[in-house]
Amino acid sequence: MSSKEVLEKFIKFYEDRGHVLIPNVSLVPENDPTLLFVNSGMFPLVPYLSGQPHPSGKRLVNVQRSLRFEDIDEVGDSTHTIAFHMIGNWSLGDYFKKEQLPWVYEFLIEVLGLSPEKLFATVFAGDESAPKDEESIQILKEVFKKYGIEAKEGERIFAYGKKSNWWKRGDKVGELGGPDSEIFYYLGDGSGIRKNPEDNEGEFLEIGNSVFMQYRKTETGWEELVQKNVDFGGGLERLALVVQGKKDIFLTDNFYPIIQEIENISGRKYTEDLEIEKSMRILADHMRASTFLAMDGVSPSNKDQGYILRRLLRRMTRAGRSLGFEKDLSIRLVKKVTETFSWLYPQLETKRQEIERVFALEEDRFRKTLEKGQKELEKKLTKDTYTIDELANLAFEFYQSFGYPAEIFLEDIKEKKISINEQEFNTVFEKLFTEHKEGSRSGAETKFKGGLAEHTDTVIKYHTTTHLLHQALRSVLGDHVSQQGSNITNERLRFDFSHPKKLTEEEINEVEEIINEKISESLPVSSIVLSKEEAERTGALHFFGDKYGSDVSVYYIGDDLFSAFSKEFCGGPHVSNTKELKPVKLYKQENLGVGKQRIYAKFIE
Ligand code: ALA
Repeated sequence: MSSKEVLEKFIKFYEDRGHVLIPNVSLVPENDPTLLFVNSGMFPLVPYLSGQPHPSGKRLVNVQRSLRFEDIDEVGDSTHTIAFHMIGNWSLGDYFKKEQLPWVYEFLIEVLGLSPEKLFATVFAGDESAPKDEESIQILKEVFKKYGIEAKEGERIFAYGKKSNWWKRGDKVGELGGPDSEIFYYLGDGSGIRKNPEDNEGEFLEIGNSVFMQYRKTETGWEELVQKNVDFGGGLERLALVVQGKKDIFLTDNFYPIIQEIENISGRKYTEDLEIEKSMRILADHMRASTFLAMDGVSPSNKDQGYILRRLLRRMTRAGRSLGFEKDLSIRLVKKVTETFSWLYPQLETKRQEIERVFALEEDRFRKTLEKGQKELEKKLTKDTYTIDELANLAFEFYQSFGYPAEIFLEDIKEKKISINEQEFNTVFEKLFTEHKEGSRSGAETKFKGGLAEHTDTVIKYHTTTHLLHQALRSVLGDHVSQQGSNITNERLRFDFSHPKKLTEEEINEVEEIINEKISESLPVSSIVLSKEEAERTGALHFFGDKYGSDVSVYYIGDDLFSAFSKEFCGGPHVSNTKELKPVKLYKQENLGVGKQRIYAKFIE
């Protein structure tokens, strides 16, 4: 069964049970400065899990491309990939455990044909936040019984603490979370059956997780929500692995065509030896993730998402070099990724040539640095053992004199079998780096270290201000102004829009004046769910093509929908009144060319 069929069957299964298919979103979160990438299907649903009505109702299903960069060091083994697809179903305060658990096992066993013998479940063991999930244990026992299995606790069902069985999106006050029930598939040869999935990671593969999202984090602990939600996420690539009877994710239809292309053009065999296998996996994984990122508009740079893409392309170039590629890696492989995923992303084909061009440029540039660094390294490394200080200093010297990245240096060192404590190396290197005040890359580092999303008050305020700015620009410049992009941090908002030239000082003043006037008028900010047609009739602005479903939510700023100053299709969140905002200054603008302008604004008090 192909991945495409697994996905189609999943969607149909939940549509048959009253779920509505919702669109997926870009890997790059909109208006969320604290998270670099969308990392699960629930990400765009936070406002709805928190109680705001979803335009498509209370039962939702979808597939969402996701990226977990923190898994990068794991890539090279048989199951980890940094980009993956999460299939998800949600109940927004509708059904709960006694529907979710039987359904998900019915899908796996009756629709996908997985052997119930090989499925194992975990539940939350209970602590000061919430009691042990006895209800799920009872339901799971019934579920397994239906398939002829007596599921005993400690044998088939395992209860673990928060670390394993409490899902939360982040650690901030206000985050949603709750106990979860993970599903493991047994991949071992039989000897591990009835062992504990936690202690036998190589033998058990997590394929899905039902989160009973019924708590919100407070200063003092977790409080129960009024709305009890289900948030299920399953890994499409991992499901393909088990359905296709593989033990190596790179042998499934999601990766194998790319691996085969690498074999073809390198003349090497995937199974030749472990080093080759690892390099091919890194190459296939990074090429796929990079292509998805580029599809979502990311281009290589030294900041944020662009910096991550740059790192992926560099690691990929390095892995390619160890397979003997001296050029054209991107040209050959982006095409293969495009072909492999055209069933899911038909838009890739139209972007393919541009992606190839950008990647090839990056690849060629970096290959020169790589050649130089690796040659220098041969010369400099004359001993078998080195202190951390010696290595970090050498890495820093390489970095300073010709931009050789420390992480690539580290890979080289590891490959030469020189023993090194990575953490200590990174600490010493970081210290050298900060001493030389070269913090340009720290933005990206802090963000993915800092982990998951939060909607801080300031970000929400800037988001509402973005709507005011959008309408103010239209009022001053004309209706040709339309949003082309937006990015918000805790310090400022940035807004891209269509307009042929920079604004004059006078225009800037006018726009500022309008925004500040609307703020001082203390206008309410409200939202309403309408069908797409009705919403369009209200004149609400919308600029993201197909991203919306058939019903949409419209945010409007003003006393009522029809006289409102600003109306936009938007998922929120927003402040509830403009009086929560502060006076705004437009402090910088750039002409991006091709009829696009970029403007920056911040609160001045
Ligand atoms: N949001 C849940 C997860 O990522 C389903 O595991």
